[in-house]
Amino acid sequence: MPLFLAPQAGVSESPFRRLCRRYGADVVLTEFVSAEGIVRDSPKTAEYLRFEDDERPIGIQIFGADPVSMGEAAGLVTEAYRPDFIDINFGCPVKKVVRRNGGSGCLRDLDLVGAIIRAVDGATHLPVTTKIRSGFDEQSRDPVGIAQVCEEAGSAMVTLHARTRADMYSGTARWEEIAAVAEAVDIPVIGNGDVRTGQDAARMAAQTGCQGVMIARGSHGTPWLFHQARAALDRRPVPPDPSPETRFRICLEHAENAIRFERDAAKAVIEFRKHLGWYTKGLPGGRILRQELFQVEDLTRIRSLLEGYLETAERRQVVGV
Ligand SMILES: Cc1cc2nc3c(=O)[nH]c(=O)nc-3n(C[C@H](O)[C@H](O)[C@H](O)COP(=O)(O)O)c2cc1C
Repeated sequence: MPLFLAPQAGVSESPFRRLCRRYGADVVLTEFVSAEGIVRDSPKTAEYLRFEDDERPIGIQIFGADPVSMGEAAGLVTEAYRPDFIDINFGCPVKKVVRRNGGSGCLRDLDLVGAIIRAVDGATHLPVTTKIRSGFDEQSRDPVGIAQVCEEAGSAMVTLHARTRADMYSGTARWEEIAAVAEAVDIPVIGNGDVRTGQDAARMAAQTGCQGVMIARGSHGTPWLFHQARAALDRRPVPPDPSPETRFRICLEHAENAIRFERDAAKAVIEFRKHLGWYTKGLPGGRILRQELFQVEDLTRIRSLLEGYLETAERRQVVGV
């Protein structure tokens, strides 16, 4: 039962993907990359496509509404980056993407979904996979029908985030829809939506019969969730969350790698602030620490704030408050 780190814009970047691989993610994906950007050879797009060998197996996820440029983009990334598979995004709910019929916008026209998959499949020798939502809105909600279109068009695997575009991230993902899709198609079905703990991953697997579990938000600031999920799936005791010391060590290693990976170190620190918020979530007295972390401008400051927190926490323990 493979565990997937979900494609996530601004989050599933190379340093985080490597960390998650180390903590038990079996497969990772890049964030979604615009087919138009790839075809235009935009330098910004190229930034999203870089990965290291220790991330494999890795899928590059592409999005777009034009089968011709989607095919062209698939051919180009196959040649230039040699990922292990190419994933097509049919789930992104963001207005700017949907307006141009990209991401979940495609779900309004299943002929287009089929045409895009065929074009991508015809342009690469790599396996082509798809990531879908349950529909565009409640009226068009038909996860089984959408997955069948994907399968017929040549998708080698389908991931279902069991919400519609209209749901965005509200309510709970309907895992029964993952079960229905797993029952209806012959290709592997990866379940996605609301896996926050190791036990959630095991519950999803048991309740849906999916062939893999994909995790997005649950991994924020907690890359060790994959180890916990693996233990739960194997019916072993789930390891507890690491101590603040260990959390901070992982966080600092992540920060160092993220800053090294980006060409612009100052920008990298600002972009890393969200991870700092996630790594320190739920810590006693963490609110003030987080306020300070949201203003950091370099790695030295991150290090000193985290060390300062641990020293104060230790002193508090000694005096019993
Ligand atoms: C910050 C963020 C960025 C995301 N970017 C992408 C993306 O680039 N491609 C994609 O297919 N899904 C994207 N998603 C959706 C996730 O992959 C996943 O389907 C969704 O968050 C539900 O899973 P979860 O409940 O485990 O978070 C993104 C989600 C988040 C929270």
